[in-house]
Amino acid sequence: MNEMAVPRPNNLDAFWMPYTDNRYFKANPRMLARAEGMSYFTPEGREVLDATAGLWCCNAGHGRREITEAIQRQAAVLDFAPTFQLGHPLAFEAAARLAEILPDGLDRVFWTNSGSESADTALKIALAYHKARGEGGRTRLIGRERGYHGVGFGGMSVGGIGPNRKQFGALLPYVDHLPHTHGIEANRWSRGQPGEGASRADALEALVALHGAETIAAVMVEPVAGSTGVLPPPRGYLERLREICTKHGILLVFDEVITGFGRLGTPFGAERLGVVPDIMTMAKGLTNAAVPMGAVAAKDEVYRAVVEGSPGGIELFHGYTYSGHPLAAAAAIATMELHRSEDLPGRAKAIEGEWQEAAHAMRGLPHVTDVRDCGLIAGIEMEPRPGAPGQRALDVFRRCFDDGVLVRVTGDIVALSPPLIVEKPHMERIFGTLSDAIRAAA
Ligand SMILES: Cc1ncc(COP(=O)(O)O)c(C=O)c1O
Repeated sequence: MNEMAVPRPNNLDAFWMPYTDNRYFKANPRMLARAEGMSYFTPEGREVLDATAGLWCCNAGHGRREITEAIQRQAAVLDFAPTFQLGHPLAFEAAARLAEILPDGLDRVFWTNSGSESADTALKIALAYHKARGEGGRTRLIGRERGYHGVGFGGMSVGGIGPNRKQFGALLPYVDHLPHTHGIEANRWSRGQPGEGASRADALEALVALHGAETIAAVMVEPVAGSTGVLPPPRGYLERLREICTKHGILLVFDEVITGFGRLGTPFGAERLGVVPDIMTMAKGLTNAAVPMGAVAAKDEVYRAVVEGSPGGIELFHGYTYSGHPLAAAAAIATMELHRSEDLPGRAKAIEGEWQEAAHAMRGLPHVTDVRDCGLIAGIEMEPRPGAPGQRALDVFRRCFDDGVLVRVTGDIVALSPPLIVEKPHMERIFGTLSDAIRAAA
């Protein structure tokens, strides 16, 4: 496409941008106008290699024709149909396709439109499940420090990120948190899952002793925490959480919004990490982000408890106008088909060794205090500048962008999650540009 075909805005005022330093951005805009394969292009036509799959979402690469065409075809056939007391075929087909690739037992799919909606939906399903089984006293929700589950009141409350909450006053009551799993001293430079920290899951036993198992509905964690800087679970940690949840009748919810759809070299993180939750949330890679869509998968017994436990009529008073939207469903089916036909999880698995090597080569650069990875994710942690936390990483982000590579930063951590179609020359460029930027930010 020629660069003149890309419309350029001449007024940046009206859009109140999310999670953005609006004043800085509007004075120094960095815009993306087009994308293809591994790359974005600015309105001026400058290529920017995408080391973040957008925002952990375009796992199959950008502008995939198969997905675009499926959306176009569907838009011409059925633009919208409600899924409240009505249905349309693609919403069912997409759910059946998703159930086929989900870990065994996770067979029931509730459609949402985002990761945040998926988090809140999962928590509501957990509460409804216990109520349907006559355990309505289980209203407590347990999250984890440094967890991110989006920005709805449920996900924000169960999430464990202080700055995400402090503007908003009272949150959900009856929420408690496990300690995070980040043991940088013991686990520095670890490759894949770190060795130390499984016992941190025992904090769940302490919360059970404190509150009583009969008050706890669910524990929600990300299998690999992403937004707070790539925290892979210590070996044995998730297994231990699973064990304690099962023992006390607590539902285990995995937020797989970023670990789903091939990121860890398997369709879902649950398989790679060897632990199956009772409920799983998804979004992002589900449609390759071409149309917003999220999903919550529940074990059959969860679905049956709620549906068969209801006296009749509507069983779950929850849903979104756009749950199972036809364009999103078409995009999801096309995306899942691409994952199958190109074996994208297998491709990620095949290249993760090289990815790991390239990431760990950042060790030794000025102010780099840790490198960690899991599947096609890498986190490079840097020492904050005295009195200016986050500033070093922002400088790295801006320098990389200006040098043609899109990275993501959170605090003073660079978090990388390229499309799963990444190849060795892309890696060389990503880590070459990043190391120059880290040196320049020293
Ligand atoms: C683990 C996790 N859960 C939930 C969300 C929220 O998703 P969304 O921004 O689509 O609401 C995110 C977004 O990054 C995420 O990483």
